[in-house]
Amino acid sequence: MTDTAALVSLAASCAREAGDMLRDAFAAAQHKTTAKSTPTDLVSESDYAAERMIRKHLESQRPDDGILGEEEGGHAGSSGLRWVVDPIDGTTNFLYGIPMWSVSIACEDENGDTLAGVVLDPVRDELWSARRDDVARLNGEPVAPSGCAELGEALVATGFGYDAEVRAIQAEVIARLLPQVRDLRRLGSAALDLCWLAGGRLDAYFERGVKHWDIAAGALLCRQAGLSVRPLAALGAAPEGLLVADARLVDDLQSRLS
Ligand code: IPD
Ligand code: CA
Repeated sequence: MTDTAALVSLAASCAREAGDMLRDAFAAAQHKTTAKSTPTDLVSESDYAAERMIRKHLESQRPDDGILGEEEGGHAGSSGLRWVVDPIDGTTNFLYGIPMWSVSIACEDENGDTLAGVVLDPVRDELWSARRDDVARLNGEPVAPSGCAELGEALVATGFGYDAEVRAIQAEVIARLLPQVRDLRRLGSAALDLCWLAGGRLDAYFERGVKHWDIAAGALLCRQAGLSVRPLAALGAAPEGLLVADARLVDDLQSRLS
């Protein structure tokens, strides 16, 4: 049996090491950036440095595991386990000095099921963690979702892709949804959206086109917190995504997202 507590502890120490470096870079606010998939999709030296740091740490402790990282791609391992790393989730916030970004690290088995995950919010010193065989936790203490079951009372988080065609579809969806819900939030870090949902600071989340590294750890947190976590079907140019809400709310919300 895999020791999931050991996986969480390794992920946490990798995230903290990178998080300390990133917090200093965030405070210094001098970033060298380049554009990635589109002119709106930025990446900085800090993203690369944090990912290198995390990879080095993981490889030194678990050389046989595979790794998939947002900035440097993937390599397969021989152990059957794979680490999924987003060194800065919320890069745009990070570069603009907005304190809403995180380091996300998950570990999954050969079936792609997530065994363990952490999301570190270095600015608030909040470490969100979950294991497949435990409840979701914040700084070691169990967390609980809001329990919101009514669409009209739901504070719903979402996010947008970097591609203009995808955004046009996303804009149409939220134009229809906004009058039906308490309000919408676009906080800018999908990993933190999911943690805040698991911890009751939001009531639901959906986003098409999110990448595996954005959501691998956060989706486990939501699942272990008892929320309903489902794939969201593609819509026109907007690729498939993720929908998370209380089990009593999720069908209603899903029906408004197409
Ligand atoms: C982005 C953030 C954002 C979400 C985007 C992601 P990045 O990740 O999670 O909230 O809306 O879909 O790409 O680019 O900051 O790592
Ligand atoms: Ca990301």
